Amino acid sequence: MSNISRKEFMTRLSLAIAALSAAAVAVPVLSALLAPLLERNEGAWRTVGALTDFPAGSTKLISFVNDDSKPYAGITAKTAAWLRRTEGNDFIAFAANCTHLGCPVRWEDQAQLFMCPCHGGVYYKDGSVAAGPPPKPLTRYKVRINGQHIQIQTAPLPITGMTACTGNQHPMKDKNA
Ligand code: FES
Repeated sequence: MSNISRKEFMTRLSLAIAALSAAAVAVPVLSALLAPLLERNEGAWRTVGALTDFPAGSTKLISFVNDDSKPYAGITAKTAAWLRRTEGNDFIAFAANCTHLGCPVRWEDQAQLFMCPCHGGVYYKDGSVAAGPPPKPLTRYKVRINGQHIQIQTAPLPITGMTACTGNQHPMKDKNA
């Protein structure tokens, strides 16, 4: 039989149980911390309306649920974008936030411009900068047509540099007619 004393056996058993307990706590904590760094989030596709809801030349405000929203997020899970139908089945979806400091831009149909109320930023209908401090065009979402419906791909957007960026979001036009 073994020469291990009862005391030594109990010490080893205690150490083994402690190691198992530490692993039981560490594995889920580490995986929760590292998962966002390792996952590549492509973003979910959200249906935002029917083809017939968007006449050619129209630009309309749409809303949808964020890809990374939490169950407790409530109304904050929703975000908005501007969806423009240029001609035929060509669509462009713009983030609703100015690329300067993130204020929500509004569409002025008569002027055919996006206007930012905060510091006078102005964008043309294709999202490019017309005037003011915005450093770059309005950020775009990917758009696709699924049957008779329009879908856009949700994802964290590099709106102002203050939010997370997947690095593959611009330009994003994707037509699957
Ligand atoms: Fe839009 Fe400054 S936030 S111009």
